[in-house]
Amino acid sequence: MGNLFYDTLKGKYGERPPVWYMRQAGRVLPNYNKLRESFSFSELMTNPELAARITLMPVADIGVDAAILFSDILTIPTALGMELQWSDHGPVFTNPIYKDLSSIQTFKFDPSKLSHVYKTLDIATKGETPVIGFCGAPFTTLCYMTQGTSQKHDFPETKKFIYTEKKKTEYLIELITEANIEYAKEQIKHGISAFQLFDTHAGLLPLSVYKELFLPSIKKISEAVRSAGIPFIFFPKGISSGLSFITPDICDFVSIDWQTPLLEARRMVHDEVGLQGNIDPFLLFASKETIAEIMSKEYAPMFSKYPKWIINLGHGVAPTTPIENLIFLTEWIKNPNNWK
Ligand code: CP3
Repeated sequence: MGNLFYDTLKGKYGERPPVWYMRQAGRVLPNYNKLRESFSFSELMTNPELAARITLMPVADIGVDAAILFSDILTIPTALGMELQWSDHGPVFTNPIYKDLSSIQTFKFDPSKLSHVYKTLDIATKGETPVIGFCGAPFTTLCYMTQGTSQKHDFPETKKFIYTEKKKTEYLIELITEANIEYAKEQIKHGISAFQLFDTHAGLLPLSVYKELFLPSIKKISEAVRSAGIPFIFFPKGISSGLSFITPDICDFVSIDWQTPLLEARRMVHDEVGLQGNIDPFLLFASKETIAEIMSKEYAPMFSKYPKWIINLGHGVAPTTPIENLIFLTEWIKNPNNWK
């Protein structure tokens, strides 16, 4: 059976664009929050039955066209041997690299620490719903490994590390890239229909540094995914003018952040690369009338000109987003009359 999300990735368009949302599988869902009363986040992530149920929850509870694996980008640092705790303020690594550079020598990829992810995918991919696999891009992963938390949003320790420890930076990029490639290939074996690489913090670096140090690793991961026949979506958040170097050798689709107007992004990105995005997650706190108005004015004209487009937010669903607005937006998108 055809699926609008998968068909659009492959260049076959329907009467409306497909839709899914970053961070759709989680705390915005009342059914997820009910589970959270009995289980911690990491218990849910590592329990394949429950993780598969949460993966598919947004399809039933919001109405999206695709599911994304319920997991986190920080599984890779833990598989490399770093100890991670989930606090109320987010992730905390016990021994971040900036505090102990020698810890790098102990890192070794242990694929057995990811086996729960593959079991989750075996269950979640049994039905008709396409499931998106993912991992964190080397730079964003390195941000958490070096700094240890996301409490300082500009990751100063990470940037100091990159400028003062180039050899170690290059070593870690290679280590993360190789782990990512193995991880992506296994996810593909376990049934994913598409793969998204999250580079949430890409905008923290000067473009020249990003291009020199990190872009080659993105191409390697992309190549590994696409040579297995799976479409590759890249999310370089905050990359701004860097969108002009997004060419077909990097990805099939690029996910656009909420800062960049979509039509401007369309002019900058290579014609053969599709777009994903880019509704401001905070628009979901507005009234339904405002949401519908912005959709008709800013987004409806896009589809008839450029159907190579998957609707998403410009970043993840924000905590406390009213679920009824997310459902309203999804129903609006799924009404073909809104796209005529
Ligand atoms: O998108 C989805 O719904 C699928 C699952 C998913 C999660 N994290 C679950 C999660 C995905 C794709 C991610 C990616 C992720 N994780 C990124 C990249 C995308 C982005 O949002 O920028 C990053 C930077 C992380 C690291 C991370 N995970 C942080 C900094 C935090 C704490 C802050 C926060 O947003 O809660 C998390 C926790 C996290 N990851 C939760 C979920 C459902 C919340 C856990 C809970 O309290 O129940």
